[in-house]
Amino acid sequence: MELEIKLDYADVNWQFVAETLKRVGMAYAEPAAHQKSFENSQVTVFVRREGQLIGFGRAISDGVFQAAIYDVAILPEYQAQGIGTIIIKTIMDKFSNCNFILYAAPGKEGFYQTLGFRKMKTGMALFLKAEQMKERGFTE
Ligand SMILES: CC(C)(COP(=O)(O)OP(=O)(O)OC[C@H]1O[C@@H](n2cnc3c(N)ncnc32)[C@H](O)[C@@H]1OP(=O)(O)O)[C@@H](O)C(=O)NCCC(=O)NCCS
Repeated sequence: MELEIKLDYADVNWQFVAETLKRVGMAYAEPAAHQKSFENSQVTVFVRREGQLIGFGRAISDGVFQAAIYDVAILPEYQAQGIGTIIIKTIMDKFSNCNFILYAAPGKEGFYQTLGFRKMKTGMALFLKAEQMKERGFTE
């Protein structure tokens, strides 16, 4: 499968990004909010096949010590074909000196384990939608 991997978001359809996040069961918002969150990230990755966006992800970082990965999503019909791995490795290559943290969607921990991530014993989060995140299985 021939893939195009781009780090810039010049020609991204943010409506499609929002719809994809919704479709794969992740938190989603207005397209403009996603546009802003990607634009404010240090690294963004967009994977296309034959011009169609099929997966994306982003990371925020201080560029020296720490980086956090968010919004990694692959269209369902393209999952389990190595595209998520490409996105994570592309992000990690950009911050080779950094620690990485993320919170996996419940049930997706195994994907990150294949990439070397380990569960944190002391990870803490203060979510705006605390009850919702608890119900969805992110917090105790
Ligand atoms: C989770 C997701 C990003 C993984 O991307 P992907 O392209 O499907 O995964 P890959 O094909 O790169 O898989 C790499 C490895 O992880 C494993 N893996 C993938 N999803 C897994 C899961 N849910 N549980 C356990 N292992 C998983 C694969 O079997 C593969 O293992 P291998 O290298 O031994 O063959 C993708 O399935 C997705 O977008 N899911 C819906 C949205 C989501 O939950 N995103 C994550 C938010 S934290």
